[in-house]
Amino acid sequence: MSKIKKVNSYWELGCHVADIVEHTLTLPEPKLILPTGSTPIGLYNELVNRQLDWSNVTTFNLDEYIINPNHPQSYHSFMKKHLFDRIDIYPNNCNFPDRNTQAYEDIIPEIDLCILGIGSNGHIAFNEPGSSFDSVTRVVDLDKQTIEDNSRFFDSIDDVHKQAITMGLKTIMKSKKIVLIANGVHKYKILNVAMNGGVTEKVPASILQEHNNVEVYYCD
Ligand code: GLP
Repeated sequence: MSKIKKVNSYWELGCHVADIVEHTLTLPEPKLILPTGSTPIGLYNELVNRQLDWSNVTTFNLDEYIINPNHPQSYHSFMKKHLFDRIDIYPNNCNFPDRNTQAYEDIIPEIDLCILGIGSNGHIAFNEPGSSFDSVTRVVDLDKQTIEDNSRFFDSIDDVHKQAITMGLKTIMKSKKIVLIANGVHKYKILNVAMNGGVTEKVPASILQEHNNVEVYYCD
C-alpha cells in the first residue's frame, strides 16, 4: 500500500490535517511544530474557522530566513498573518529559531505533532539535499532550487534571502507524530521518491521512512 494518502482536493487536505491538529489540541499541554509555505495556508484557514482553544498550546516553527522578524516576507509575519493573529494563542508560546541556534534546539521539548511541507528538491524545513540525518538547528545556505522556488513570494529573485535558520532532521525526527502535506502534481514526483525510493541524504524527506508514526497527504 502506498504510504502517500491522496485526497480529493486542497480543501480536503486542510480538513484531514485539521482533524489531526484538533485531536492533538485535546492533550493537556500540546506542543506542535509548524511549517510555512503555500501548502499549509488552507489548513491554517480551516483551523481558524474551527475556533479551537489554543490557550495551552506551544508552537515551534521549523525555520526562518536570516531576516528582521518584522519584515513582511519573514516567517514570523507569515505565521501571524495566516494563523497566530487569528487564534487565541499566547504570543509568548509561539517560538521561532534565531541566530542562537543551540538555545532553540535546547528549548524544543517532546513534540506531539510536527507538520511538514516538502520542497521540490526534497527538502523539509530548510534541510537541503546533502543535509546530515544527524543535523540539528543551524544556519544554512539555501539551495539554488529553493531560491528559485521561493522567489515567487518576493519582488525579484535577488530579494530572496539566501540564508536561513532551520531545525535539523534529527530535531524533526524526535517528534512523536509527523504529518507531511503536499499540494500539486509538481510535488508528486519528489514525494514519491522521498517516500518510496531509497533513504538517502540526497533526498532529506526520505528520512521520514524511518519514523514509526508518519502520515503523508497529497492532493493534485
Ligand atoms: C519553504 C519552507 C518549507 C516548505 C517549502 C514548501 O522552502 N522552508 O518548510 O515546506 O517552502 O513550500 P510550498 O508549500 O509553498 O510548496
